[in-house]
Amino acid sequence: MKKTLIIANWKLYLTHQESVVLAESLIQSELEISDKVEVVLCPMYTALGSLAHMPGQGIALGAQDAFFDSHGAYTGEIGPETLRDLGCRYVIIGHSERREHFNESAELINKKIKASLNASLTPILCIGEKHEVRQAGMTDDKIKHQLLDALKDVELNSGHLVITYEPVWAIYPSKYEVDPKDVEHVTEIIEQELISLLGNEAYNEQCQILYGGSVNAQSLATYLSIPRISGALIGNASTKYNEFAKIVSIANK
Ligand code: PGA
Repeated sequence: MKKTLIIANWKLYLTHQESVVLAESLIQSELEISDKVEVVLCPMYTALGSLAHMPGQGIALGAQDAFFDSHGAYTGEIGPETLRDLGCRYVIIGHSERREHFNESAELINKKIKASLNASLTPILCIGEKHEVRQAGMTDDKIKHQLLDALKDVELNSGHLVITYEPVWAIYPSKYEVDPKDVEHVTEIIEQELISLLGNEAYNEQCQILYGGSVNAQSLATYLSIPRISGALIGNASTKYNEFAKIVSIANK
């Protein structure tokens, strides 16, 4: 059975020091993490080294992005092998904020997925439509294209892949209500595409589908009850100790 993944995307919300303090509180507290749950902390790059030395049962480390190569003349970049050496097991790829603010193309995201898998990291690929795309009735097409482009010629071999459906318009602070039926529909499409790309066995054994977009302690149970969803990518609500502790206890149930 797949573990429920609770992935904390701390974005640029927390400073290095605040990330270390929050991670320490989570690790040293009595926070119970059942063996059916894995919590993944994704702090800013500079905090990864400090968090790597904090042992925490049920807690893994992830990065918020990775470059598509591990060595070379690439000023300012961090390669997937470096992240793995720092203790990361996961890496978020193709987040809508990177697509939007850094113009990340489908081709770049595809290269980053391949490089992450080559470095034995589990990519957490984010896909999701903008509000105007949903209003135009183009969500299904957009999701299929994002998925096919990101996974073009990707071979999983013994690796794992996490797909997060994150409607861009639902990300905190969103002014829109999300209908869980729409989320369920999109996860059906993701499942079909993954099966036709990778086959039934790889889908069942090596892939997980998550939801993200203003998930908090109040809404988590609703999303986890949607078929095929086995976890959440959580930004804002994961940056506050009490809220995050509640989220983890709901995931344990
Ligand atoms: P949010 O962020 O929970 O703050 O909406 C989720 C994400 O963008 O990964």
